[in-house]
Amino acid sequence: MRHLILIGFMGSGKTSLGKRLARALNRPFVDTDQRVERAAGKKISDIFRQEGEEGFRRRETQALAQLREEKKPCVISVGGGLPVQPQNHLLLEQLGTVIYLEAPVEVLEQRLAGDKTRPLLEGGDLHSRIVKLMGEREAIYQEVADLILQTGGKTFEELIAEIKKRTETL
Ligand code: S3P
Repeated sequence: MRHLILIGFMGSGKTSLGKRLARALNRPFVDTDQRVERAAGKKISDIFRQEGEEGFRRRETQALAQLREEKKPCVISVGGGLPVQPQNHLLLEQLGTVIYLEAPVEVLEQRLAGDKTRPLLEGGDLHSRIVKLMGEREAIYQEVADLILQTGGKTFEELIAEIKKRTETL
C-alpha cells in the first residue's frame, strides 16, 4: 500500500503538515503516537514511566504493523524515534513512500521549548538534548527516507506543493 509516511525529529512538523497534506490529498490522516495511546489506553508519558522506552517501542512497532491493514492510502505521521528502530525498517518500506522533514535545530528548539509531553526531552538542557539525539538519528532518517524535504522557511502550502510534485515521479 502506497501510504505517504512523514518521519523526522520531534517538532519537525510531521503532525501539523501531515494533517494539512492529508486534507489536500483527500486521504485519511494517521498518527502512530495517537494509535499507541489509544491501544494502550494511556498517555505516552505514562507508558514510558510504567513500561520504559522498551515498552513504548514495542507498542509503536505493533501500531505500525497494524497499518498494513489500512485499505485506503493514508498520510501517516510516525513518532520521531520510530524510524530509528531497525525492526521498523522493513515495515516502513512495505507501507509506502517515506518523507523526511528536515528542520534546523533552532526551529526544533523553539517549537519544543516548554513541552511536557515528550519524555525524551525531560530534564537538562533542551539544546544539548536535541543536538545529541539528532546526532544519533540524522543519518538513519536520511537512509530510511525516499525523499528529504528541507522545511525551513517554507509555508505549508509550499511544502504540500513540493511533496505533490516530488512524489508524482516515484
Ligand atoms: C519520540 C517522539 C514522540 C513520541 C515519543 C518518542 C522520539 O513523537 O513518539 O515521545 O523518540 O523521538 P513526535 O516525534 O511526534 O513528537
